[in-house]
Amino acid sequence: MEHVIDLRSDTVTKPSPEMRRAMAEAVVGDDVFGEDPTVNRLQERVAALLGKEAALFVPSGSMANLVAISAHTERGDEVIIEKNGHTFNYESGSVCAAAGIQLHPQQGERGVLDAAQIEAAIRPPDHHFPPTRLIVLENTHNRGGGTVYPIEKIGEIRELALSRGIQMHLDGARLWNACVASGRRPSEYARYFDSLMMCFSKGLGAPIGSVVVGSKDYIEVAHRYRKLYGGGMRQVGVIAAAAQYALDHNVDRLAEDHDHAKMLAQALAGCPGVALNPDLVETNIIIFDVSSSGRSGPDIVQDFREQGVLMLATGPASIRAVTHLDVSKENIEKAIEVVQQSFRK
Ligand SMILES: Cc1ncc(COP(=O)(O)O)c(C=O)c1O
Repeated sequence: MEHVIDLRSDTVTKPSPEMRRAMAEAVVGDDVFGEDPTVNRLQERVAALLGKEAALFVPSGSMANLVAISAHTERGDEVIIEKNGHTFNYESGSVCAAAGIQLHPQQGERGVLDAAQIEAAIRPPDHHFPPTRLIVLENTHNRGGGTVYPIEKIGEIRELALSRGIQMHLDGARLWNACVASGRRPSEYARYFDSLMMCFSKGLGAPIGSVVVGSKDYIEVAHRYRKLYGGGMRQVGVIAAAAQYALDHNVDRLAEDHDHAKMLAQALAGCPGVALNPDLVETNIIIFDVSSSGRSGPDIVQDFREQGVLMLATGPASIRAVTHLDVSKENIEKAIEVVQQSFRK
């Protein structure tokens, strides 16, 4: 088969020759001793970009959320999260198994909760209940369809959290997509959160790596949890160099991915059997419903696959497509031909 157009996720990107060169030339040291200059520079850079005191480089987004949530909580605490949140659905129950906390998921609208919903989920101070310690939001929201969390809503949730002594963590795996789509700086979002994590291995195109960001004291606690979970790495500047390269070269271009997602969404919305409002596609993720197509999501995905276009069935009647830096405009035009042909069958 000719070139496959892989729209399953923005995690499938491969490091470019220039990124690999930056990795090969990285100055490294033992990061468990705090001696890797490339990692130290990256941590300082991200902390400054987010307006926080300190940052910690970790291997994955899942570990970033686990480390971050562990550092806020004690066993038996409760954490409010949106029902489709990544940590609740796709991190193998790690925060429950490893941090011993209980998640209290609330149904949002495309991944977005408002302050009133969160207020209703906060436990009263009574020994029957687990204490509500933390609120986790996700921006952009993956399963919500790449939703940019409205900043006014975040502000209202922050006010509530402060009044109730509850901490806030942001799963910002795709924070840069939110920033490019909204025109806001990452620090504008970060000011509402006690901690954030963000990933280099999604739309930014690095092969590995995430960071947890927060106050100096908080990051010291997080550092201990990174070690406890086996996430201390040695000459990891080779990876941090890819993240540096990604910050230098791959942020502004996310706008292209958003344009491509819009193109594809508009074409999908015109296909018989597809339910999708392209106006709600704000970033690089498209989730569409195929209930009225007469075929299942997995069958349709298989049909696309046979024509060289990969997407992900996210449910019996739901399909996800994600644009990223290894997908060109020509690829999107080809993918549009394939989907239009498939739904005409
Ligand atoms: C919103 C969100 N958070 C966290 C993660 C976890 O990242 P990783 O796959 O690096 O563990 C992902 C992965 O896709 C994600 O989409």
